[in-house]
Amino acid sequence: MILLSKATSPIKGEITVPGDKSISHRSIMFGALAEGTTTITGFLESADCLSTIDCFRKLGIEIEKKNNHMTGVPTIYVHGKGINGLTAPDSLLYTGNSGTTTRLISGILSAQSFDTDITGDASIEKRPMKRVITPLSEMGADIVSVKDNDCAPLHITGGKKLHGITYNSPVASAQVKSAIILAGLYADSATTVIEPALSRNHTEIMLKAFGADIHNEIYEDGKAAAVLNPGQSLKAIDINVPGDISSAAFFIAAALMVPGSELLIKNVGVNETRAGIINVLKRMGADITLLNEDDSSEKRADILVKYSKLHGDKNKEFVIGGADIPTMIDELPVVAVLAATADCTTIIKDAAELKVKESNRIDSVVDNLKAMGCDVTATDDGMIIRGGKPLTGAEIDSHSDHRLAMSFAIAALGAEGETIIADDKCVDISYPTFFNDLRSLL
Ligand code: S3P
Repeated sequence: MILLSKATSPIKGEITVPGDKSISHRSIMFGALAEGTTTITGFLESADCLSTIDCFRKLGIEIEKKNNHMTGVPTIYVHGKGINGLTAPDSLLYTGNSGTTTRLISGILSAQSFDTDITGDASIEKRPMKRVITPLSEMGADIVSVKDNDCAPLHITGGKKLHGITYNSPVASAQVKSAIILAGLYADSATTVIEPALSRNHTEIMLKAFGADIHNEIYEDGKAAAVLNPGQSLKAIDINVPGDISSAAFFIAAALMVPGSELLIKNVGVNETRAGIINVLKRMGADITLLNEDDSSEKRADILVKYSKLHGDKNKEFVIGGADIPTMIDELPVVAVLAATADCTTIIKDAAELKVKESNRIDSVVDNLKAMGCDVTATDDGMIIRGGKPLTGAEIDSHSDHRLAMSFAIAALGAEGETIIADDKCVDISYPTFFNDLRSLL
């Protein structure tokens, strides 16, 4: 349990957030399928990414961590065995709370010569898997939901020959896209995944760096495709993981919440398929500047945030929807918290995907905002937040959802009275040192 109160002084200084979760997962997976040893610095050692390491160790991949004896900086070594180098696990693959591990590994395992069983925790066993079962089955995979409820546990029968498909995904989901592309590495022809809007493209960027023939295409109507031509072998590379913008988002929000704040967040991944929160908050009047931008491979920058009063348009309204949504899907809970303090009504729409995250993030955000005194209504695909009423401390139900716990820790900084977050341990999923890092700034 953690108790937080209103911040009494501005948030000033510098902070570095841990490595990007999406990139960390992929670095282990693709490293395992590459020939040679992939090195990873900046790897996120959180529960989710450790689940990925655990699964690939069970699939016969040696993964080591060594600290540099001069600097103490850890490097992860993934001793890849090539695309056909995985071996049958002795037991079920357990993916914990990680949707990324569960869905991406399903794509890889669909193409193996051996059978596998995969499941995760109670939250994973409720999250939709039909979105990967359908396209992978279309490619020739034999993948079934064991309880016949379109959720994990999944059983995958090995020894199937996969063929390339063109798949029109109903959702802009990088997990779905990546599962199909990873299966496509083993297919006998090209694989194309078309999405309603471009979701995070870390898979495309990283697979290309490993030697795959893959690219994105953006169509005139805003739809986007990832196109993979199989046949190239993957070769080990050295990866430096930038800081996670989804973690940086909590400190961006903290600086925008507490008057007088000025905070520099160093070395954050700002790939435009992820950095929607920056554009949206700037449109709401936030003073955010990117410094030291580095465009090589995954774009990164230092983010300077100065306290600003957020607002809407001349009608005191602000709409977040459409193509903004996939670029900031994980940041919507903390943006909703900021919207509660803004001088406008914020409408979040086209975000029904929030319902199938680690918790139903429409209900869990709305219920907790209401508990803090906010005037907010849940809708089918988002929420309407009538900002400006002062927030009051409350007992927060995080639903064991890491991003909920962190979002409402930020709300607490702007709320009168005390806020209690009962399940603070859930932050281990993506940001184990979050509360220490937050305390260091207060
Ligand atoms: C992720 C993609 C997103 C995101 C998740 C990580 C990834 O999920 O919410 O936290 O690493 O590919 P969806 O693909 O389901 O939108």
